[in-house]
Amino acid sequence: MSQYLLEIKNVSKFFSGLTAIDALNLKVKKGQIYGIIGPNGAGKTTLFNCITGIYTPEEGEILWNGKEIKGTAPDKIAALGILRTFQTIRLFAEMSVAENIMSGRHIKSNQKWYNGIIPTPAYYKDEKYNWEKVGEYMELFGLSEYATTPAGDLSYGVQRKIEMARALAAEPELLILDEPAAGLNENETKELAEIIRKIQDMGVTIMMIEHDMDMVMSLCEYMTVINFGAWICDGIPEHVQDNPAVIEAYIGVEDEDEDE
Ligand SMILES: Nc1ncnc2c1ncn2[C@@H]1O[C@H](COP(=O)(O)OP(=O)(O)OP(=O)(O)O)[C@@H](O)[C@H]1O
Ligand SMILES: [Mg+2]
Repeated sequence: MSQYLLEIKNVSKFFSGLTAIDALNLKVKKGQIYGIIGPNGAGKTTLFNCITGIYTPEEGEILWNGKEIKGTAPDKIAALGILRTFQTIRLFAEMSVAENIMSGRHIKSNQKWYNGIIPTPAYYKDEKYNWEKVGEYMELFGLSEYATTPAGDLSYGVQRKIEMARALAAEPELLILDEPAAGLNENETKELAEIIRKIQDMGVTIMMIEHDMDMVMSLCEYMTVINFGAWICDGIPEHVQDNPAVIEAYIGVEDEDEDE
């Protein structure tokens, strides 16, 4: 068994002539908070899309607990224990906060779809347990007061938390966060950092893309910097921060707006 939970080995992803990921290598250890940083358009989200099965890289291997998962469909990747949030929030706007989180829970459920129509005692027991867990996640994220509110009625910062709670409700082994602090104010960002630490304490390995350098440097134990899809440097935050190649990659793009 590999000592790494996830290994990216020589992975390349091309989009009609553009090299979005260029022979990238990285290894994530169980329990780590692992950062991916790089300027806009560096290929960070594309990497996460390759890991979560949205894209299949043309070259290289993606190993999960030592086994190749490249080309596996997104729902199967989720069932393996790899869950994510998106750079642009994707929630069921009309559904309540509790129902949104429950939808994540159902990835984990043993029940078949027809048990909702022909419920069995096991189904009721399972559903009761699932709602209890949803309650716990709402508490962890400070969302209990919004339990019955449609997600679409809530602020951006709250919606980011709902999305994370939904991913966590599936009890992932690896939680992948694409710019979790984007659009959050300073207090919300601090609160989020505390929640991420609590998630790590629950035994969940975390990979995150983030442009908020204070947050990345204080949270991540290890990180890889990419530019034009290629590796620039990796290491502990102190090492990465002082690397001239990293500083150069960021020159001229520092003040650019974060995203769409
Ligand atoms: N589906 C696609 N088709 C064609 N090109 C794409 C596609 N997805 C991403 N790209 C291109 O791949 C490159 C990397 O994009 P990606 O979204 O991964 O960057 P990023 O590092 O996440 O940037 P940001 O910090 O702005 O979110 C960009 O040049 C982008 O235009
Ligand atoms: Mg991105």
